[in-house]
Amino acid sequence: MPGVTFDRAATFYDATRGYAPGVAERIHEAVRAYVGATSETRFLEIGVGTGRIALPFIQADDDYTGVDLSNAMLDVLRAKIRQSPGAASNRYALYQADVMALPFPAATFDVVLAVHIMHLVDDRQQTIREARRVLKPGGVFISAADGPEDHEDEEIPARQVRMRWLEILEEMQVSTSTARSGWITDEIVVGDLQQLGAQTEVVHLAPYHRTPVSARQMANLIEARMFSSDWETSEADHAEATRRLEQWLAATFDDPTELYDMRGDFIAVAGRWG
Ligand SMILES: C[S@@+](CC[C@H](N)C(=O)[O-])C[C@H]1O[C@@H](n2cnc3c(N)ncnc32)[C@H](O)[C@@H]1O
Repeated sequence: MPGVTFDRAATFYDATRGYAPGVAERIHEAVRAYVGATSETRFLEIGVGTGRIALPFIQADDDYTGVDLSNAMLDVLRAKIRQSPGAASNRYALYQADVMALPFPAATFDVVLAVHIMHLVDDRQQTIREARRVLKPGGVFISAADGPEDHEDEEIPARQVRMRWLEILEEMQVSTSTARSGWITDEIVVGDLQQLGAQTEVVHLAPYHRTPVSARQMANLIEARMFSSDWETSEADHAEATRRLEQWLAATFDDPTELYDMRGDFIAVAGRWG
């Protein structure tokens, strides 16, 4: 498998990474402004998933192509497009394909977007090489990790739960896919791009907040294996880690159901080739 397919996550993905209302629209506007988009600008999103980023582009009739390994994720996006008011656009296209071997000729797109996918692909450099190949001269590659480094507040209970879970797995010497590959920070992507001869820039595109979440809800998501880093853990290890997390949760929070906003900045790493 050339990456981590999200087939099993299609029905719950939006519950784990959903933005609060209006945030995706703000990101859409910020990306368009950053690249100086016109109605002719051709966008490609690699690892488009359920369209968390793509939907406002498609609804605004931008020229938007999405690629994903998982047809189940694409089906969720197709359903959202069908339900969108007035979304009769024929300026979008969705393909089931590997981002490391894109089914497009060279110099097809003006912008390639990669959001929360660089930690999942088998070969980041090959992914970037493919993005570069399909970019027109002067085009821009934009990667956004949309991960922990975007958040301002390390003490949000949901984040503490996630960090405690990773610590428990480490204490139990359970190796997760995230532990094996490590989280791919913006700095690492900048390094990859520079190695491949790109000029890079890191830009804070838009403030965002996620759907408010409590410590209890985050524990539920983790325990139901809704994060890809837990998909390979054995049943026995997962059960023991869950028991330890529950013990910690009860000892740590007076009210684990209290809801907190997760705020941060949508940070983009941009790469351009001369
Ligand atoms: C975490 S989701 C991100 C989806 C979307 N970009 C977002 O920000 O909501 C990652 C997506 O990348 C897809 N993926 C992982 N490896 C891939 C590969 N090699 N080729 C195509 N898609 C891949 C997964 O199936 C999944 O839908």
